[in-house]
Amino acid sequence: MNVLITGGCGFIGFNLSMFLKKKGFNVIAMDNLVRRGTEISRAVLEDNGVEFVHGDVRNNEDFSNVDRKIDLILNTAAEPSAIEGYKNPYFDFTNNSLSVINILELARKNKIKIIQWSTNKVYSGDKINAIKTKELGTRFEYDDELYKNGIDESFPIDGNDHSIYGLTKLTADLFCQEYANAFNLNIIVNRFSCLGGEWQWGLPKQGWFSWWPIAFAYKFPITYIGWKGKQLRDVLYIKDICELVMKQIDSIDDFKGDVFNVGGGVKNTMSLIEATNYLEKKLGSKPAIKTEQTPRRADQCVYVSDIRKVSKTFNWQPKVSPEAALDSILKWVMENRQMLDKVYK
Ligand SMILES: NC(=O)c1ccc[n+]([C@@H]2O[C@H](COP(=O)([O-])OP(=O)(O)OC[C@H]3O[C@@H](n4cnc5c(N)ncnc54)[C@H](O)[C@@H]3O)[C@@H](O)[C@H]2O)c1
Repeated sequence: MNVLITGGCGFIGFNLSMFLKKKGFNVIAMDNLVRRGTEISRAVLEDNGVEFVHGDVRNNEDFSNVDRKIDLILNTAAEPSAIEGYKNPYFDFTNNSLSVINILELARKNKIKIIQWSTNKVYSGDKINAIKTKELGTRFEYDDELYKNGIDESFPIDGNDHSIYGLTKLTADLFCQEYANAFNLNIIVNRFSCLGGEWQWGLPKQGWFSWWPIAFAYKFPITYIGWKGKQLRDVLYIKDICELVMKQIDSIDDFKGDVFNVGGGVKNTMSLIEATNYLEKKLGSKPAIKTEQTPRRADQCVYVSDIRKVSKTFNWQPKVSPEAALDSILKWVMENRQMLDKVYK
């Protein structure tokens, strides 16, 4: 099977490329290398026999550089920061929405199957933050029976404070659903929450779960922005993501625009403070910590995915806890300091 992974040198794209290559797929990684660190990931991919195509998903013509029949597209390319979009909404729109129309048109013409990387930010921050929460020692949690299993796929997508990023991803998400139905295409839309793992070139503005071990290793200050660092996420580790995607590829013929909330779920949650405490205990010290009182625009205080639908449909469960995920990422950081120095020094 020929698989095109857009954003193939990014965190998710890189890991999926390596994983599927080992499984015997013909993998083509397309990326415009806009994210720092991806040029390093690209070299590793090529050393491992993954074909790299320098391309930009905003440009329809760039897909013609992929000169073989594609069976499946895993669309992980995006401008993934939830804060950058306010500076230039058009940039987010072209990268995250218009690009998907390019991909869907290609799929329509050539009957290509698609797995789309969507996000919890399709749900409005206003509505998520209106859910009653309780404040505990190191975290906030939902304090409403209705959400005891987390947020499911029926949660409203209307409202405000999706972020510009969220809006552009929601547009893409809906386009995927619409095309699947109108043009009889096999498409799965995964609304992922907080993802973490090795080869995530984490930054303060995006990818906090990998940024934490990097900041600890390099002694970069970390900042709690709003909610005193008690904001809570369900965390999903990259190995669990790859295993789910494998199951989805195997059964994609049964799906036509189906939407799934995907994350670590209620059993795999962690707050910023808890991540700090865990790493401090492990390493014996912590970097300087700053606290900003006002939350980031459109940020969600508590977001936990209800993963019952995805778990049941694909007979899949996350196996790696946030603590074990932090251990693995920290090990990767420590063992690859010279390589990471090129990005972080
Ligand atoms: N990381 C998370 O916690 C998270 C959570 C929810 C959803 N997502 C979604 O998952 C997907 C993958 O995210 P990630 O964490 O791997 O991000 P990433 O930034 O590590 O990877 C994205 C890749 O896309 C590439 N890219 C960006 N614009 C491009 C363009 N116009 N053309 C070609 N390539 C382009 C970048 O160079 C990068 O390699 C994204 O769609 C993101 O919205 C991520």
